[in-house]
Amino acid sequence: MMVHAQKHRLIVANWKCNPATLPEAQRLFAAIKKTSPRYKNVDVVVCPPAVFLSSLSAKDGRAFKLGIQDVFWENTGAYTGAVGPRMARSVGAVYAIVGHSERREQLKETNEMIEAKMEAALEAGLRVVLCVGEKSRQGDAAEYAAFVKEEIQTGLRGVAKQVLKNVIIAYEPIWAIGSDEADTPERTLEMALYIRKTVADLYDRSTAQAFPVLYGGSANANNARMFLRDGGVDGLLVGRASLNAKEFGKMVEIANEF
Ligand code: PGA
Repeated sequence: MMVHAQKHRLIVANWKCNPATLPEAQRLFAAIKKTSPRYKNVDVVVCPPAVFLSSLSAKDGRAFKLGIQDVFWENTGAYTGAVGPRMARSVGAVYAIVGHSERREQLKETNEMIEAKMEAALEAGLRVVLCVGEKSRQGDAAEYAAFVKEEIQTGLRGVAKQVLKNVIIAYEPIWAIGSDEADTPERTLEMALYIRKTVADLYDRSTAQAFPVLYGGSANANNARMFLRDGGVDGLLVGRASLNAKEFGKMVEIANEF
């Protein structure tokens, strides 16, 4: 099934805390640029560690956009270690990932912190990829659906309808991240519909229909086509496979088929 055929596909590389040095990051960036040519139907975003952004943005050209993996909820102030959204923009970030489950779990980020980050990032003019997803599929389906709904409702609480065009939701079931056990496209389709329904309840149906949803969690070159064709999503948020330029390039190429 092809959903939202009129929309661009979006493939987002989340390098996480990789690679260890700037020269390696520059090599990976150059390699991805080679393997991910510019396609008419696909927008490619690379999110390196924040410290590498300015060194990569000068070399970006027009091949693809850059993003930051997280932003703080203030632009400036006495917040040791924090990176403000305007700082990110000023060194070339166009996108920001907010609410990734690794930050929710390891750094104890709450829905309320994520709500504040969403507002600050959008205010600074960034496009935001809001990550949501349940911890486990054990137990009652209504329970984990409610968990995801709460993440969306809080994350979007301060987001006015006119700025919603700068928001993308990445559905990332936590158990599928870094696990080699991706979700099934059937379940992803159900969740993508559920996410759009939640957005429709908060705004309206036509807004929700146009709303981009990505899948993330062990997405790779072998399963990309399946998710893009049958998963009801507009693109992918890619962790490990984005560290392999060849594999990532293949995923971008696959996305161009849709
Ligand atoms: P993964 O990570 O592709 O390595 O599972 C995805 C993500 O966490 O965004």
